[in-house]
Amino acid sequence: MKSIYRQFRRPTGVLGAIVGRVMARRNRVRGEWVVSLLDLAPGERVLEVGFGPGVDAERALARVGPAGSLLGVDASTVMVHQAAHRNAAAVKGGRAAFLEGDIDAQLPVGDGEYDAAFAINNAQFWSSLDHGFEEMARALKPGGRLVVAIQPRNPGASAADSERWAERLAEAARAAGLRDVSAELGPTAPPVAAVRARRAA
Ligand SMILES: C[S@@+](CC[C@H](N)C(=O)[O-])C[C@H]1O[C@@H](n2cnc3c(N)ncnc32)[C@H](O)[C@@H]1O
Repeated sequence: MKSIYRQFRRPTGVLGAIVGRVMARRNRVRGEWVVSLLDLAPGERVLEVGFGPGVDAERALARVGPAGSLLGVDASTVMVHQAAHRNAAAVKGGRAAFLEGDIDAQLPVGDGEYDAAFAINNAQFWSSLDHGFEEMARALKPGGRLVVAIQPRNPGASAADSERWAERLAEAARAAGLRDVSAELGPTAPPVAAVRARRAA
């Protein structure tokens, strides 16, 4: 059981590739809801951390259209390959790139480059929420939007767990100096907790 949990945390090898396919088939409602919170517009540049199989990257790319772009950063080599394969046309066209990187260290991105940034179900694995939010905030342009979401998946996870995550995410967003911080619960069971925030203009 522990080894499966480890695979969701950071997929590796053949088992990791299978876990990636499972993640790609589940979580449609969660992904659509979280990506909708970003209010993406055509032409925008988007950063996704912990993209897993790249399904939500695909959703974000559809919203920013042919003039927009997405950079993904994930700590798993297997997920980099799956996401790049899933979004092969966008990668080939120079609209998407998927890099291996670890938010616990430093994201391989410059300061102030992205209109929007998001992370779904990986902030619970970051060694420091504060550091992770600082890194994502650093990548945003002034006024850029951030959404970080967690759906608790531990056995027996409840709406109360989601509410606690919403509070913790909002605290980390405020600690990173982000503005207009709001937390909400999404339409899944248990609810997905999401925090929305904005870098100061
Ligand atoms: C449970 S999966 C979620 C994948 C996808 N976002 C989804 O919702 O289906 C967690 C992902 O976060 C990545 N990850 C975990 N820790 C990370 C870190 N410190 N930096 C970057 N990515 C990380 C893992 O490699 C994995 O692809």
